[in-house]
Amino acid sequence: MNTIEAIKSRRNIKEFKKEPLDLNKVKEWLEAASYAPNHRMTEPWKIKIVGPQTRAALRHKTDFGGAPVVLLLTSKGSDIEIERTENALAVACFAQNFMLAARSEGAGVFWSSLAGSPQSRAILGVPEEDDVIGIFGVGYPASLPPAKERIPVARKIEEMP
Ligand SMILES: Cc1cc2nc3c(=O)[nH]c(=O)nc-3n(C[C@H](O)[C@H](O)[C@H](O)COP(=O)(O)O)c2cc1C
Repeated sequence: MNTIEAIKSRRNIKEFKKEPLDLNKVKEWLEAASYAPNHRMTEPWKIKIVGPQTRAALRHKTDFGGAPVVLLLTSKGSDIEIERTENALAVACFAQNFMLAARSEGAGVFWSSLAGSPQSRAILGVPEEDDVIGIFGVGYPASLPPAKERIPVARKIEEMP
């Protein structure tokens, strides 16, 4: 699968097969993800592998679609506002790299915002200064949902003099 195929066929996966997922595979995709652009090489990503006890405490409504692996992705905070923003942008790039690496090997990812709530942050032990980027169910998709149609990007392009 080439990069454009991986980009266009990625979906937010809400239901996973029961099939286990090799954690070493997940670590390979995380390693690939770490080649994300990041200003001044802050490498601001932090990853937690969320175990069953913590996962149950979060009480996600579908338990992350039954994903065999759940990962928390946070971004290192900073007192300098622009650095904090740029860190979060870099971690979003990391997240997309991760999803594409997983997609290219037949796996899928469920991106959930649940971890951003104060209650979830406390359960997950996220330091106050850090930003939650997302909590991700990872596994083999039960099925691949159809693509959600996008507005043709040509309509978003403006040519400046
Ligand atoms: C920052 C961010 C937060 C998201 N949070 C959620 C979420 O809480 N629940 C959810 O079902 N999807 C969430 N998504 C996934 C989007 O709903 C999904 O990407 C969008 O519907 C487009 O579908 P697709 O990814 O399959 O193309 C999130 C995506 C992003 C980038």
